[in-house]
Amino acid sequence: VTVLPTREAAVVPAPRADTAPRSMTLLGATGSVGRSTVDLLLADPARYRVETVVGGRDVAALARTAVTLGARFAVLADPESYAALSDALAGTGVEVAAGADAVVEAASRPVDWTLAAISGTAGLPSALAAIRRGGHLAIANKECFVCAGVPFMREAARHGATILPVDSEHNAVFQALAGGRRQDVEKVVLTASGGPFRNWSRAQMETAGIADALRHPTWSMGRKITIDSATLMNKGLELIEAHHLFGLPPAQLDVLVHPQSVVHGLVHWRDGSVLAGLAATDMRILISYCLGWPERIETQCAKLDLAKVGTLSFETPDFERFPALRIARDALEVGGGSPAVLNAANEIAVEAFLQGRIGFMEIVNLVESTLIQADRLGMLRTPASVEDAMVLDREARALAGRQLASA
Ligand SMILES: NC(=O)c1ccc[n+]([C@@H]2O[C@H](COP(=O)([O-])OP(=O)(O)OC[C@H]3O[C@@H](n4cnc5c(N)ncnc54)[C@H](OP(=O)(O)O)[C@@H]3O)[C@@H](O)[C@H]2O)c1
Repeated sequence: VTVLPTREAAVVPAPRADTAPRSMTLLGATGSVGRSTVDLLLADPARYRVETVVGGRDVAALARTAVTLGARFAVLADPESYAALSDALAGTGVEVAAGADAVVEAASRPVDWTLAAISGTAGLPSALAAIRRGGHLAIANKECFVCAGVPFMREAARHGATILPVDSEHNAVFQALAGGRRQDVEKVVLTASGGPFRNWSRAQMETAGIADALRHPTWSMGRKITIDSATLMNKGLELIEAHHLFGLPPAQLDVLVHPQSVVHGLVHWRDGSVLAGLAATDMRILISYCLGWPERIETQCAKLDLAKVGTLSFETPDFERFPALRIARDALEVGGGSPAVLNAANEIAVEAFLQGRIGFMEIVNLVESTLIQADRLGMLRTPASVEDAMVLDREARALAGRQLASA
């Protein structure tokens, strides 16, 4: 298995012929991370051969992506979209499929490199299929780790899959960890921009609207993760992700608010040294690292200009105003099924907020009440397998839905 960058891992080239184009599958090809990846592939098309592109329901975007990349296979999760996708790609020679099973089948096809960038736990079955056939998995979908961390990592180890973190904070830590031995790590720190409400009072946040919450100060991302960044739940999910990715206990994981989003993650070593990962706020930089790993590839991204940035500032997070971070941290410490329930309830709550059904601060209330109720109902069992975690995810969604209806 890979995941953990040791000195050795950082210098040993991947076992592949550099002259042959790398075959790849893009899960979530039409999303924010997917589009950034497409940009990188188009900058050096001879280097890559895209086998499969997968999307949710956006027919036009997926068809366009498939044609632009010269993909052989295009798959949408929405089964109703099959006819429209077939029409859109008629005469292009691109094979077409639709439905959840087709997504998993597509992810199981052998390729050198897969991007897992479907949003939410909907991305778990296909990411699992990809790790079960080994190869390199560049993973943006943090929900895989939060919902099914232990069994997911076990599957990766069993099948010799190489997991490369796309998430900027984990990518930075992954790179910084190459600077020493695992046993010499004192702690790992993930930074958070603080989101659009960093300076808002609790009372102001009670009245925050959808547009306010979607106005992220430093990153341009999909809607779900942008709302999670406003509640700071995103940072809580990332702590859980880091715990599984890097095999570190909760006590060695910390969060710092850093409004400029220049330093993405830090590794503190036991001798007092600190290695930090910095980059401009452009996901293509982090994705390119996963694309080239263990080498680096040239990108056209704007380079970080620290003189222009001028000042870097850091604050401890405010758990009072951002209770989601506290609740996620508690779920990490409690372990078992708590992170899976937390994640499922959060997905339902964010969706309800985006539909205008609940207020901003009610997102975290719904997550907390679902966790309390799940505990009462004895649902917080440790998932024995990824499939078991998916069952728990469905049960927790149903419970959160009932909590929402009765609120
Ligand atoms: N955006 C970032 O900068 C960023 C940074 C770090 C981590 N991440 C993580 O990366 C993941 C993707 O984030 P994003 O911001 O790129 O999300 P996004 O813009 O909402 O894109 C989501 C992608 O998933 C597809 N999709 C949605 N539901 C699906 C389903 N049931 N089956 C198959 N495909 C489905 C969407 O297709 P349609 O277009 O057809 O809906 C789209 O291609 C999330 O887990 C997020 O936490 C994102």
